[in-house]
Amino acid sequence: MKVCKTIDDMRAASREARREGKRLGFVPTMGALHQGHLSLVRAAKAKSDVVAASIFVNPLQFGPTEDLAKYPRTFDADRELLEREAADILFVPTAKEMYRPGAVTYVTVEGLSDKLCGRSRPGHFRGVATVVAKLFHIVEPDLAFFGQKDAAQCVIIQRMVRDLNLPVEIVVCPIVREPDGLAMSSRNAYLSPEERTSALVLYRALTATRTLFEQGERNTAALIAAGRRVMAKERGVRLDYFEIVDPDLLTPVPELTRPVLVAVAAVVGTTRLIDNILLSV
Ligand code: PAF
Repeated sequence: MKVCKTIDDMRAASREARREGKRLGFVPTMGALHQGHLSLVRAAKAKSDVVAASIFVNPLQFGPTEDLAKYPRTFDADRELLEREAADILFVPTAKEMYRPGAVTYVTVEGLSDKLCGRSRPGHFRGVATVVAKLFHIVEPDLAFFGQKDAAQCVIIQRMVRDLNLPVEIVVCPIVREPDGLAMSSRNAYLSPEERTSALVLYRALTATRTLFEQGERNTAALIAAGRRVMAKERGVRLDYFEIVDPDLLTPVPELTRPVLVAVAAVVGTTRLIDNILLSV
């Protein structure tokens, strides 16, 4: 696996692959890799000739009181996992390499960046869209792979790609869960054993909503109330949102007459976790 630390090296590696007529698949990450990330690498391997991954803890998508400083950085283990998955290129820029001093240019996906997590994490999706646009310009992938766990992020990136005519196909891969249902996340590493148990409430609440839906309930207020009731029972968990939204617009849906996204975010101890399911009528 070729490790590129500079933008120039990454561009050269990508252009070499293109010269050889190869399709380049790209998996952007912030490291602390788990099976969810590895599923993206495997999907990229299946659909591309050359796979590049990036590890960059993007300061621009963290708020001033968020976990940028303590975000898990496990480079040696990440590198080994990527080697094992036979990724071809790893891009690991520094923040200085990615953001020149005095940079003032951002990408904002209007009308979507303030939905779901964007409401409680102002500036987060602007940071995500900006770094992903930059990564796309540097890596120049044919395909890029993202996890459905970050559902709003996927919607925002898809809209950015469409609006800016970026020549990359976005592939969204299913959520990977632990055997007990907890969605895999790098932030799960923060959880104490007790918090790890409490964190299961997110999936339990989503499952309760799905069960009610399968029993015929189509009123979203009733479905949301059922999910919130489950969330409220778990002590030490602070609900941020439990919403049922249009999966493309991220706006609330009153009656369930078409597919919807059921999305939840909550703080368990001090760790913010998200999860979601899709319901199809
Ligand atoms: O999903 C993530 O890990 C990050 O938001 C991403 C897409 C790598 C951008 O920093």
